[in-house]
Amino acid sequence: MTATESDGVRVIEAEAIPTRYARGWHCLGLSERFRDGRPHAVRAFGGRLVVFAGEDGGLNVLDAYCRHMGGDLSEGTVKGNEIACPFHDWRWGGDGRCKKIPYSRRVPLRARTAAWPTLDQDGMLFVWNDPEGNPPPPQQAIPRIPGATSDRWTDWVWTETVVHANCREVVDNVVDMAHFFYVHYSFPTYFKNVFEDHRATQIMKGRARPDARRSSRGPQMLGNTSVATYYGPSFMIDELTYHYEGFDINSVLLNCHYPIDRNSFVLQSGIITERSEALPGEAADEMARKLSGFIQLGFEQDIRIWKTKARIDNPLLCEEDGPVYQLRRWYEQFYVDVADVTPEMTARFEFELDTTRPVEAWEQEVERNLAAQAAGERPA
Ligand code: FES
Ligand SMILES: [Fe+2]
Repeated sequence: MTATESDGVRVIEAEAIPTRYARGWHCLGLSERFRDGRPHAVRAFGGRLVVFAGEDGGLNVLDAYCRHMGGDLSEGTVKGNEIACPFHDWRWGGDGRCKKIPYSRRVPLRARTAAWPTLDQDGMLFVWNDPEGNPPPPQQAIPRIPGATSDRWTDWVWTETVVHANCREVVDNVVDMAHFFYVHYSFPTYFKNVFEDHRATQIMKGRARPDARRSSRGPQMLGNTSVATYYGPSFMIDELTYHYEGFDINSVLLNCHYPIDRNSFVLQSGIITERSEALPGEAADEMARKLSGFIQLGFEQDIRIWKTKARIDNPLLCEEDGPVYQLRRWYEQFYVDVADVTPEMTARFEFELDTTRPVEAWEQEVERNLAAQAAGERPA
């Protein structure tokens, strides 16, 4: 034991980052971009994948490295429903089987490569990752998003950003109420989490920050209500309502990611807004683009923190922090074999934070910032 430990100094603990990648559906982005008749390389799950659409329109995801001599299929050509390797033209089907070797009499027995189960739904392409190789269980299906295919709603406005951190950092946000004030300049007034099975929900209400207002033009936003659920380890659907004087704006925000490797991931957002009297026609598309910009800004705020923070398995919490340990236990279910998922990982857990003290403290801080701004100083 070192002198500091005997002095009762809290020591940050962090085990090695898991070598396996989470079991579950992962969104690779809008399906549209994979439908140009070409193969696409995607770095994910510590390897390289090839995504391609066959003549039949179906999207396929295979390991990019050809099992013949290791050629990179993402540099190949789509021929019919198969991907042809650029090295010796072996043809691979979306099921992972070698269908044809043009210069050979027959295909070797068991000529099979890794194929990922795919889901092409609501304009997005998903792959099912499972280190044990089981098919996706129906109860973990990604729910449909009615607005995504409705004319009353805009098309997806999509962003993606490479983040150099382990993806547990983004999942931690689910329970982290206080960072929304300090990092994202929002003002949570209500905060609750519910975890159950493969879902983790965050319910948050917030008010606008007069000390962080970006512009005084147009209608003032009063606050927002957000009901955000992770379906599995990486795909969050947020029903997000912005409250303005006299009207609401309904949006669906997706916050999703897939791991590139243990130390980096692709963070994506998608947003659609509902057309309404307050937001007719083009105005809704404009709003979706504007909100997408805010979301991107929010990601950049998180990324600034993640860039230099330490990985920490034993966070030191105060009473007004959310249930980080329970969330981590929920998240653990995706990193163990199905047979090792314990009831504690999936049991229903509810926790509503008492926001009395944070709200008091934040009101005072907002007042101080406003006073400083009025006096022409920079906010504290
Ligand atoms: S390496 Fe792919 S066909 Fe030879
Ligand atoms: Fe955040």
